[in-house]
Amino acid sequence: MSQRKSVDDLFVHMLSDIYSAEKQLTRALGKLARTVSDPELSGAFKTHLEETHGQVERIDKAVESTGLRLKRMKCVAMEGLIEEADELIEEIEKGPVLDAGLIAAAQKVEHYEIAAYGSLCALGKLLGHDEAVKLLKETLEEEKATDLKLSKFAESAGNAKAAGKG
Ligand SMILES: [Fe+2]
Ligand SMILES: [Fe+2]
Repeated sequence: MSQRKSVDDLFVHMLSDIYSAEKQLTRALGKLARTVSDPELSGAFKTHLEETHGQVERIDKAVESTGLRLKRMKCVAMEGLIEEADELIEEIEKGPVLDAGLIAAAQKVEHYEIAAYGSLCALGKLLGHDEAVKLLKETLEEEKATDLKLSKFAESAGNAKAAGKG
């Protein structure tokens, strides 16, 4: 039905979706940190877990600044991405190959988030939600930095070891 009548409705819908995604990630990132073998990679997941808690708070603040209200909903895309990471954990024994798989899974997550926050910033700007945009942009930059960090892991440790060179 036409629950998303206005751009504001769409903005709330997308914010509610990424809120759910971040909440799901607070659980998933802890599991990734415990599962990977490379201690540096594990540390990177822990760092991003901390950041993710802050990102949830930022969404709360952003919503507050707009006077809008979040909807209760589940981000099914994030549920699927996490499910795929779980499949890897079930199928591959712990070690460098699993690490490489989980780096890829985590990068898919970051790319989803980057797309979501990028769109939210654009919509928020359109709507004049300047304070919210400022907060969402901070998170967007964290997601980009995390993706970049993961790319470095993928290029060095993870993939070299997975190919038997490490
Ligand atoms: Fe996030
Ligand atoms: Fe993230």
